[in-house]
Amino acid sequence: MKRVAILISGGGSNMVSLLDSMEEAGHPAQPCLVASNDPNAGGLAKAAARGVPTAALDHRPFGKDRAAFEAELQKIIAAHGADMICLAGFMRVLTAGFVTPWSGRMLNIHPSLLPKYRGLHTHKRALEAGDSEHGCTVHEVTPELDDGPILGQARVPVEPGDTPETLAARVLVMEHKLYPAVLRRYAAGDRTPVTLP
Ligand code: GAR
Repeated sequence: MKRVAILISGGGSNMVSLLDSMEEAGHPAQPCLVASNDPNAGGLAKAAARGVPTAALDHRPFGKDRAAFEAELQKIIAAHGADMICLAGFMRVLTAGFVTPWSGRMLNIHPSLLPKYRGLHTHKRALEAGDSEHGCTVHEVTPELDDGPILGQARVPVEPGDTPETLAARVLVMEHKLYPAVLRRYAAGDRTPVTLP
């Protein structure tokens, strides 16, 4: 049974979908921690209500000292005995010093069809480019931003009249299906990419 730490920064809807999926019979993973860099992240209360241990580590007192913030985060994750990390709307860039020790054991979900639109504002950029489809990607985390091996993708159509918000909502529905599907395979040692729908 793989012990999974989930890192969030916000509402944590992807985190909730991962927690739900890990309750399924025969799942090869279990949550050991939900941690946020924002003490006010709404997802922390949702995790606590489900009996999952939570931690908040505010990045702001660390200023520009990313290494010190990451060292503290590593300590918290280690204290909870995690075997794997799932980034789920975690909005801090993690440096190689954090990522490298977790190589092959850390996943991220990104709201675009990578390699398109690494970074922020993915829905707006897809609309501005006139794309006819958009989606989300789960990938292994490497030191390059949004650049690790792809483990799954889900596509949605771009509809006439879409705004970044309507498009984001359509993608999020698929995120909640894709991430659990990838985690279930990955935690069982299967890296075959998942394609949805
Ligand atoms: C999700 O759309 C996720 O893909 C995105 O943030 C949102 C978090 O929502 N992640 C990134 O942009 C990472 N660069 P949630 O807190 O409801 O899961």
